[in-house]
Amino acid sequence: MPRTLVKDALAATAPRDSILLQGWVRTRRDAKAFSFVELNDGSSLKGMQVIVDATLPDYAAVARAHTGASVEVQGKLVASQGAGQQWEVVAGKFTVIGEADATYPLQKKGHTMEFLRGIAHLRPRSNLFGAVFRVRSRLAYAVHQFFQERGFVYVHTPIITASDCEGAGELFRVTTLDPAKPPRTEQGGVDYTQDFFAKQAYLTVSGQLEGETFACALSNIYTFGPTFRAENSHTSRHASEFWMIEPEMAFCDLSGDMALAEEFVKHLIRDARTHCAADLEFFAKFVDKDLLTRLDFVLERPFQRCSYTDAIGILTQSGRTWEHPVAWGDNLQSEHERFLAEEHFKCPVTLFDYPRTLKPFYMRVNDDGRTVRAMDLLVPGIGEIIGGSQREERLEVLRENLAQHHLSEQDYWWYLDLRRYGTVPHAGFGLGFERMLMFVTGVPNIRDVIPFARTPGSADF
Ligand code: 4AD
Ligand code: MG
Repeated sequence: MPRTLVKDALAATAPRDSILLQGWVRTRRDAKAFSFVELNDGSSLKGMQVIVDATLPDYAAVARAHTGASVEVQGKLVASQGAGQQWEVVAGKFTVIGEADATYPLQKKGHTMEFLRGIAHLRPRSNLFGAVFRVRSRLAYAVHQFFQERGFVYVHTPIITASDCEGAGELFRVTTLDPAKPPRTEQGGVDYTQDFFAKQAYLTVSGQLEGETFACALSNIYTFGPTFRAENSHTSRHASEFWMIEPEMAFCDLSGDMALAEEFVKHLIRDARTHCAADLEFFAKFVDKDLLTRLDFVLERPFQRCSYTDAIGILTQSGRTWEHPVAWGDNLQSEHERFLAEEHFKCPVTLFDYPRTLKPFYMRVNDDGRTVRAMDLLVPGIGEIIGGSQREERLEVLRENLAQHHLSEQDYWWYLDLRRYGTVPHAGFGLGFERMLMFVTGVPNIRDVIPFARTPGSADF
């Protein structure tokens, strides 16, 4: 008999004479004449109530079915007598596949998130993390659906790269040299020409530069993959390894880019609202009581747009005292971004036209010479979830930008070629997948929306 997932059994429209379920015991209650076993297989938040009658030849097995044990049940799917569920299974055959004893760490509810991070290999078996990772999976699917339906081509950009796209120097080095005795140059530095790739290589911080080459051939493309940053930020929003979605569009300017970003974010929220309803209700009950109203509010309203210069005006005239006072030319800190999204605009807001000095070399310079066609999408509760820009398509201006950033033209020869041969205005952005998941689930720490988080000082499992 083929296995039925609990999710499908719960959605049955008629009773069934025989059904096979497999999963893990969440709880067991023994009465005189029978036992109730709640079986969960991860396919849904809700488990299936299984009734094992004491007269069953297999009944002895039930005594070994402790919380955490894996079991297999064959039986009948019948309308439940009890409140709280529509269906239940009356066992005809009950088998323990793998026992779990009293040391199983997920015995009862009410564990702290810190404790659960310490058992990242078991936490997907909890209600909260089962829900988080079902939503993560669904939204990954929705990412592809969104772009594929709009004719974007999915490009696999390299994970190992020689270029620092963002120019922030937050690179993890990839090398096979012996750290104890690396080959030396005559000047005494490490001789990377003898390294595996015959040059310095790193884990990518962004697939954008390679993505641009494909946009300048296939028109609309997107990447979706892991990115790495050796940034020593100990916050609830930074991870050293995270997933990013980077669309890139040829023949597109910043306003087209901002429009796509808004449409994309709304698509993901709408998709989760439709396809992860039970999981989102769980988050609204146990994690963030305002979650659903906030998501619906975001879906209904157009995002605000505000230039960086106007944002500085709003911040300096707000009458607030900031931990980090802010003036034109400064990077916005989390407190500023959150004030704008949460208190001033009270909705997602796209800031654009940032000072040139704050942004990487590839952004298109505005006619004022001081600002670039950059955008950051800020959302309430989190701050920046998207960073993007129109790219500098003019060869001479790009060369000047490289020089200003002390980057060598030799290293970027192929990137410059895009401007030499058939250059076009083009634009794109990067959405941090984990930050989007935090927004959709209300889970406040990035460590809890990624299966095995990598953060400074921590790469367990
Ligand atoms: O703003 P960022 O650095 O932009 C880029 O990497 C561009 N190359 C994107 C592009 O235009 N194609 O990063 C983009 C997004 C941020 O808005 C944030 O959501 C996320 O990536 N992000 C991080 N998420 C988790 N942990 C980190 N350390 C992150 N750094 C950036
Ligand atoms: Mg950014």
